[in-house]
Amino acid sequence: MITLDYANCLDERVGEHGLPAASIADGAPAATAAAGFTTNLEKTRGVGWERWRSLPFSPMRDDHVHAVSSIVEQCAGRFDNLIVLGIGGSALGNIALQSALNPATHNLLSAEQRRGPRLFVLDNVDPNAISDVLQFVDSVGGLERTLINVISKSGETAETAAQFMLFRQLLIDRIGREKHAEHIVATTDPARGTMRQICEAEGYVTLSVPDGVGGRFSVLSPVGLFSAAMCGIDIGALLDGAAAMDERCSRAALSENPAAMLATLLVRLGRERGKENHVLMPYANNLYLLADWFRQLWAESLGKRVNNAGDEVFEGFTPIKALGATDQHSQVQLYREGPNDKVIGLIEIEDFGQASAMEIPSGIGVENLSYLEGARFSSLLNAEKRATEFALVESQRPNFTIRFPRVNEFHVGEFIQLWQIATAYAGLMLEIDAFDQPAVELGKQATFGLMGREGYAEFREKTDAALAPTNFVV
Ligand code: PA5
Repeated sequence: MITLDYANCLDERVGEHGLPAASIADGAPAATAAAGFTTNLEKTRGVGWERWRSLPFSPMRDDHVHAVSSIVEQCAGRFDNLIVLGIGGSALGNIALQSALNPATHNLLSAEQRRGPRLFVLDNVDPNAISDVLQFVDSVGGLERTLINVISKSGETAETAAQFMLFRQLLIDRIGREKHAEHIVATTDPARGTMRQICEAEGYVTLSVPDGVGGRFSVLSPVGLFSAAMCGIDIGALLDGAAAMDERCSRAALSENPAAMLATLLVRLGRERGKENHVLMPYANNLYLLADWFRQLWAESLGKRVNNAGDEVFEGFTPIKALGATDQHSQVQLYREGPNDKVIGLIEIEDFGQASAMEIPSGIGVENLSYLEGARFSSLLNAEKRATEFALVESQRPNFTIRFPRVNEFHVGEFIQLWQIATAYAGLMLEIDAFDQPAVELGKQATFGLMGREGYAEFREKTDAALAPTNFVV
């Protein structure tokens, strides 16, 4: 199982920048509060906006695995390319799973070497990015060998809608009106929304984003499971890991509950010690984009103007992603000597699998480099992680380590559920709604106005008035 080592968040290691161990010990107010998060879980899990907590468990899990697997089976052998269209919570999980659990070279491998089709996740409307993928796909089988998975819970999101309109038209042009639907799987709300209407009218195959599962909490639903399963990822093991972590995070004792501990440390260090920037720094390239997924989860869930009572509180912490050891040569100078306003989360991998044994050869013949001869790359990377941890402690910078025995589906599932539950618990501590995103709305409405959508003209006028040209340009 993955573990959370938080000794470096305590004052015995980082002085006044840490928390006293007694303040989080069993019986302390923080521990009693954390126990409150788990009270009545049997009744609240799977209810309202916490429905995502049921995703790893039957019956939801069985329904989703069955629906996903039967479409994957129907697609077998028919597609060389899978293009996911989505944004935010409808894309970041897909990207993170693929990058964590398939080789970085997945799309470069031959069909025999790959575990499924090439995967492209288009999560922006940059015309260059779209055109690059289109041109490449055209050179490797074309849209005739391509499946589109459009993911939008609301079906209203302008970026995803625009991409979908393009790919749908291209499919119709190349494959024909009748057959184009065989190249589309839509993941959307089971009953409502624009995308659902389109799917019903066109007869597209659909997967559901269940009620109460918001975008950034949806990676373990068909949103993330379909592209993962298409690309050979064992979604059963992923959900097993999430379920196992959920069990640990349901325990009343703070000392036995990793999500409650993570939330308690980060919220208290943020509020009581001014550590409002939260870095996640995996010492593993394949986990870097999981740190990107974490950024959305932590930022969009906890960054709130008002609390549950309606008081203006401007809560939230700034999540930052970094990569060890690469960013030791880019960010660690700041983390050690800049403002002491961060908690740095390090991720360590104990066993790098087949690559663990890769050695640095002997024979360079230079005295200064002889210490590297015969050493394993994995040992060098983990020594660098430990050295950074030491250096951070020396500078009294609070940090913690999430330790993976190895990177596989089970442990990635544990990691995802750990952070999702920690985010929900942090929301309870901050007394804010972790499941809405009201601040994202104004930008969406202004975009509608600027693009001429009926009913949104006032947002165009307001935008133009607020951003009227000035002379302050050089
Ligand atoms: O986390 C969220 O709720 C958002 O990031 C959404 O996932 C994102 O805005 C896309 O929304 P939709 O799936 O409705 O297109």
